Amino acid sequence: MNIFNDIDDLRNNLRGKAPVAFVPTMGNLHAGHLALVKQAGRLSDYVVVSIFVNRLQFLPHEDFDRYPRTLDDDCKALSPLDVNSIFAPDDKILFPTPQEFLLALPPVADTLEGKFRPGFFRGVATIILKLFNIIQPQQAIFGKKDYQQLHIVREMVRQLNIPVEIIACETVRASDGLALSSRNQYLDQEQRKEACQLYRTLLQLKNEIISGNKEFETLQHHAAHSLCQRGWTVDYLSVHKRSTLLPAQEHDDDLVILGAAWLGKTRLIDSLEI
Ligand code: PAF
Repeated sequence: MNIFNDIDDLRNNLRGKAPVAFVPTMGNLHAGHLALVKQAGRLSDYVVVSIFVNRLQFLPHEDFDRYPRTLDDDCKALSPLDVNSIFAPDDKILFPTPQEFLLALPPVADTLEGKFRPGFFRGVATIILKLFNIIQPQQAIFGKKDYQQLHIVREMVRQLNIPVEIIACETVRASDGLALSSRNQYLDQEQRKEACQLYRTLLQLKNEIISGNKEFETLQHHAAHSLCQRGWTVDYLSVHKRSTLLPAQEHDDDLVILGAAWLGKTRLIDSLEI
């Protein structure tokens, strides 16, 4: 397993290697990331994982500085897997000068996460495009927990004719249902016990819908209310059409529920396909 900081070194190493399957991460790897890497290993003989905390996708008041950076542990976690190269560039390598060219995104990027974290998806899309240009993979693997991110990357690749196949991987959950996330470690013991309620609420909503209730507005309202009563602050909890991420209509049958809510100072997100 090679670890690269430099773009030219990585490119020299990748010359003649195809197909390449790529897993972009911000490090602090957990079993959810490792599932993406294992999926990449099943798809391709050459797997590249990037580890880079991308400042473009953090708002000024967000946790960029305290975001956990654990490169040594990440390399250890990856070493038993089929990973050929890790790309872990310094900030100065990817941003030798301020990143002035940024992608303009469609309106869906201003909804849900984008409404609460303006500019987040522009930062994500821009770094993903840079990483795709550097690594030139044939496939890239993304988790369904960040459902809107997956949707936006898919649309970017489609509309910009980027020759990368986007592969979606199921969310990995703890035994109580909490979606694995690097931010879970911000939770104290009490909050960690409570945290699985986000998933449980999505599950209840899903069951209501499956049993035929299509009053989405009312269902969403009740679900958010029940979390608020338990001490959560809900940013959104809503049902959408999978293929467009527009709010669900009664006749839609490809649905996904997306949720983001705060437990104390920690913001958790999750999603559930119906
Ligand atoms: O999902 C993430 O960890 C990040 O948004 C990504 C895709 C690595 C881009 O920085």
